[in-house]
Amino acid sequence: MESKKDIDPAGDERARHSEKAFDPVNQLAQTRDLPAEALRRLLGSDQWDAALTAAADRTRRAVYGDEVYLRGLIEFSNVCRNNCYYCGIRAGNQTVSRYRLTEQEILACCAEGYALGFRTFVLQSGEDPAFTDAKICRIVSAIRDRFADCAITLSLGEKSKESYRAYFRAGANRYLLRHETANEAHYRQLHPQTMRLFNRKRCLFDLKEIGYQVGSGFMVGSPYQTTDCLIDDLRFLQALRPEMIGIGPYLPHKATPFAAFPPGSLALTLRLISLLRLLFPYALIPATTALGTLHPQGRELGLKAGANVVMPNLSPVRVRRLYELYENKICTGEEAAQCRGCLARRVAAAGYRVVTAVGNAKKETNAP
Ligand code: 5AD
Ligand code: FES
Repeated sequence: MESKKDIDPAGDERARHSEKAFDPVNQLAQTRDLPAEALRRLLGSDQWDAALTAAADRTRRAVYGDEVYLRGLIEFSNVCRNNCYYCGIRAGNQTVSRYRLTEQEILACCAEGYALGFRTFVLQSGEDPAFTDAKICRIVSAIRDRFADCAITLSLGEKSKESYRAYFRAGANRYLLRHETANEAHYRQLHPQTMRLFNRKRCLFDLKEIGYQVGSGFMVGSPYQTTDCLIDDLRFLQALRPEMIGIGPYLPHKATPFAAFPPGSLALTLRLISLLRLLFPYALIPATTALGTLHPQGRELGLKAGANVVMPNLSPVRVRRLYELYENKICTGEEAAQCRGCLARRVAAAGYRVVTAVGNAKKETNAP
């Protein structure tokens, strides 16, 4: 059979030429954007991965040097009123034993973290009605009083603007709320009818308006996710312009409706981290626990791909296994000090340096 080349040598030459001219990594590095079609090609192939990683690392080093910022994660309640189909602590999972830390326990985690060099605490929980606004405000004020030089990050899910404002006044500076997916149809496939993408977006814009440094993000390889969903995620982030962007692979949990879906891919997660670094040179991007769970060197690979934050667990060891969003989560048997030391060594081995600093996102105006 004749090949296309034999029939149309000129056409083949044209194709080769356009392939040569197509240099998405340079275009991305220079313009900090790409048209949808170019994003689609970049996301769907491994052929640009080496160039993409190298460009992302150059950008990261130009803005942040070799610095890696620590966030001490305190998972203070695994009670959740929501029922997201992917999440292991969803309300419908009756096999998980539920816990709540007391205010004293939370403060003790902060004190331990402070002694270990943490200057940012991330208070994360399910959407737990027992932690009323008054209670959250009391906890935030207590941390603010005792650790005046620290950033306080909250990650408590969807709240009213008044609630967000109250936490901010109490002393919280940052808020993490992943949008999960910016595609309406996909959002419906991941969440029950009671949850609305519109409300999630409303929360994120409210948080920005109040003055929080905002973190958003999504899972990579969540069930039913397509390349077009990912492009919608990137476009949404371009509209939101968050200070932090957290992504990690979807990982299955047996007590969820999505138990049978495979985990997200390592290569695609790393490709997206690099892409995010080039789209958002000034963003704080964590090498997530989910990435470290997917692959033993996942977090190191994440740093090399452009991430510049790690979030070791400061929760008491006895509850770590219970905050099980997905199975086989790493670091559930380690003391905070062990994780701190382990991560510092891993970060150094990857060619970067953990620093004791609040680690605000750099702004274009005061960047090196
Ligand atoms: N796999 C990976 N990430 C998950 N998350 C929740 N469930 C899973 C899962 N099964 C992520 C969500 C959430 C964050 C706290 O954890 O993106 O926003
Ligand atoms: Fe927790 Fe390595 S980071 S043990």
